[in-house]
Amino acid sequence: MFGYHAWIQSDKVSSAPTVSGPECFALEECKQVFKGLKDAPNISLSISDALPLEAYTLVGCHDNVHITGGDEAGLLYGVYGLLFHIRKGGRLDNLNLTEKPAVNRRILNHWDNPDGSVERGYAGKSLFWQNGRIGYNLDRLRDYARLLASIGINQISVNNVNVNALGAQLLTEDGLKDLAKVADVFRPFNIKIIISVHFDSPVIVGGLRTSDPVDEKVARFWTDAAARVYRYIPDLAGFLMKADSEFRSGPTALGRTQAEGANVIAKALAPFNGTIYWRCFIYDCTQDWRDTVTDRPKAAYDYFYPLNGCFDENVIIQIKNGPVDFQVREPNSPLLGAMDKTRQALEFQIAQEYTGHQIDLYNLAVHWEDVFEHPITEARNTRDLIGQEVDAIVAVSNTGDDENWCGHLLAQSNLYAFGRMAWNPALTAAQVTQEWIHLTFGANPKLKPLLDMMLKSRDVFEKYNAPLGIGWMVTPHTHYGPDVDGYEFSKWGTYHRANHEAIGIDRTRTGTGYTAQYHPYVRDMYENKETCPENMLLFFHRLPYSCRLKSGKTLLQYIYDTHFEGADEVDDFIKTWESLKEYLSEEAYTTVAERLLRQQVNARQWRDVINTYFYRKTGIPDEAGRKIYC
Ligand code: GCU
Repeated sequence: MFGYHAWIQSDKVSSAPTVSGPECFALEECKQVFKGLKDAPNISLSISDALPLEAYTLVGCHDNVHITGGDEAGLLYGVYGLLFHIRKGGRLDNLNLTEKPAVNRRILNHWDNPDGSVERGYAGKSLFWQNGRIGYNLDRLRDYARLLASIGINQISVNNVNVNALGAQLLTEDGLKDLAKVADVFRPFNIKIIISVHFDSPVIVGGLRTSDPVDEKVARFWTDAAARVYRYIPDLAGFLMKADSEFRSGPTALGRTQAEGANVIAKALAPFNGTIYWRCFIYDCTQDWRDTVTDRPKAAYDYFYPLNGCFDENVIIQIKNGPVDFQVREPNSPLLGAMDKTRQALEFQIAQEYTGHQIDLYNLAVHWEDVFEHPITEARNTRDLIGQEVDAIVAVSNTGDDENWCGHLLAQSNLYAFGRMAWNPALTAAQVTQEWIHLTFGANPKLKPLLDMMLKSRDVFEKYNAPLGIGWMVTPHTHYGPDVDGYEFSKWGTYHRANHEAIGIDRTRTGTGYTAQYHPYVRDMYENKETCPENMLLFFHRLPYSCRLKSGKTLLQYIYDTHFEGADEVDDFIKTWESLKEYLSEEAYTTVAERLLRQQVNARQWRDVINTYFYRKTGIPDEAGRKIYC
């Protein structure tokens, strides 16, 4: 079972359509994907310079459709666009549609390890690696390439950002021979490969004694490595680097700046039009919990903002959407949009590390809509940056070799949504989720409750999770299930500082001063408790449990209420899913039902652990007298 992808692969040939156009991969793909479609139209293809790269138009009249692409990639997207249009029940007469991507780099990062495991992977093993080296099932890999291309993904990294010694070998002749074969599979789908590289590659692969970016031998190592790489993969997109992050080596440790670290590699890649994606996920992961001055969310901005204008033209700094780490609720990173002379990538996580491990239902499209709507100034929001300062959208993949690619069938909608929203960030969560439901289960109006349930799922998860943006009440390491104090006395800089009277961190000017990293408009919004969005109150403010929220409830009562509600709403999900049984295949029904039951256990555990924790801290009972274990 492949979910929304199944229909592309259907081998129920009805009538093979007439397809004509220039000999190119898009033409082959058009024949391939339309051969399974009942009553397919006659399709003709052409390329026109008048359209931007990757753009396409669809013009239809009765049984004939003409696809024009700005280039072959545009044609390819036009083929999928037409297929989606038909599958969603769209008509062909008077069809006249133009599409172009908002941003040219729509990227998936795979955190896959050479041993075949996937860091933060919840959908089986790697599709790219087996037993210490590149290894794959070719048919499966081609299907995967088609799956990604059909939603507009055009670059992928295939090895973990936490590059280990084996992963570093990708830069050797042997590693590159293997990787070149993967690039060959993805090339016809307009998908380019990125290699995650180790900062210490000059030592590990090059046998040097240092990785210092200002050392000439190090510069020569990167120049040679780039030349070698492009001999094997002439269209490689570039390198991806996680440096000075979570115990990894990097320029800071050597007394150099992040720009010096990035630029030496940028110079090596420049002759080949390669890009270095340089991650900004840098913070002190050896903090003492007693230290209340160091504030983890401030770190990335402190490192990078002073370097605005210091990065080479082919460096893109890759910024996680929030300043901490893919929590259920965070403000946007203040780096986004702040560096006007620096190219930026916005990084999302589709893998549900903190959002339910693809066991709990969690609609990320809703989450990303919030990210796009986060203000940068009074006049601009994050969506406005896309295609401007932000010229790449990246996500950590949620895929693996599980039969439906994503573990949870409904988690496939997150992969789909990422591709669609990277292509067009103006699409709403409701639109892309509805599209996915149509493509997966057919255009059945009876499935409306499924759409409602999926769109609600982020709120429900948030209700039974850590309250009001405080985050991190998860089980350490695995990040599934509650452990309120699991990170409270650790070195990771992720504290809620709850005592018997109050909870939260003051990040305003009277506290850590984090708010000053934003534009004054945004800073003032967060500084003031009245204008700070309520769902982030505890991220920015330290508040007594007795304080009243806008609803008139106390903070403590809000915590109790949301946790009871969240768990109850998961019970409702189960009932909704049961009510849809007759419209779903047995397989789809069963696999999701099983996940929902596991989610129910998790939600109840969260409810009871959180409520008990705060009851024990405060001694104040629930106003509604519901059961709190003690
Ligand atoms: C988180 C995650 C790690 C990952 C890291 C990153 O900390 O838990 O597994 O390596 O993010 O984004 O690099």
